[in-house]
Amino acid sequence: VAKQFDNGALSGLNIHITAGPTREPLDPVRYISNHSSGKMGYALAEAAIDAGANVKLISGPVNLPAPAHVERVSITTAEDMLEASLEGISNCNIFIACAAVADYRPTSIAEHKIKKGNEEIMELHLVKNPDIVATIAARVDKPFTIGFAAETRDVLSYAQGKLERKNLDMIIANDVSQAGIGFNSDENAVTLVTRDTHIEIPQTSKRQLATLLIEQISQLYKTSK
Ligand code: CTP
Ligand code: CA
Repeated sequence: VAKQFDNGALSGLNIHITAGPTREPLDPVRYISNHSSGKMGYALAEAAIDAGANVKLISGPVNLPAPAHVERVSITTAEDMLEASLEGISNCNIFIACAAVADYRPTSIAEHKIKKGNEEIMELHLVKNPDIVATIAARVDKPFTIGFAAETRDVLSYAQGKLERKNLDMIIANDVSQAGIGFNSDENAVTLVTRDTHIEIPQTSKRQLATLLIEQISQLYKTSK
């Protein structure tokens, strides 16, 4: 069985990919999370392996097997995802942030199960999580850095804003207001946004999309060098 292509488009390159949701515990039995399936990030990991890359997949809790030849690091919280993403970062050529990171986490984790009180309203206190992709892109030894933007309105302008604010090289904009694409689905339709190009990729399977994205990413990576 061929392990991977020796002369693929990403041959010899180290790629880190974040995938899936993060899970932020409230107490020993409860957490805050989201419906990310991890499918897009896992499909990108497979496509990058097929293109000859060495892939580290930093994954939140998902129901997917680790793709063949991928080094999977399983994490739970955003803070753990950041720590795992930074490990080996100085040798990382391309960083792809596909994870749906929880923007906030509970300010503290209760040691025991939180009991129901008499009050009808309960308040939770949350604190902002670190921005993983922005932390990576702020480094002096910044890899070629790619983010995703799942939006329900003003998709391109929000994506453009994130590209600039987070100092990304590319952002993949995703309209999740339409049923059947994006979040927790098998298909996706995206616009690939860089500082000087917009490339529309119509609805297709996440696996097919992953192959197309990896082709575009490797071309842009090479022209950036
Ligand atoms: N991201 C990240 N760390 C975070 C939040 C987001 O690395 N704490 C990454 C995501 O993986 C994605 C990109 O940033 O690649 C955009 O995520 P998104 O949630 O769309 O952006 P936010 O900056 O969190 O803005 P908002 O949720 O308000 O739209
Ligand atoms: Ca967010």
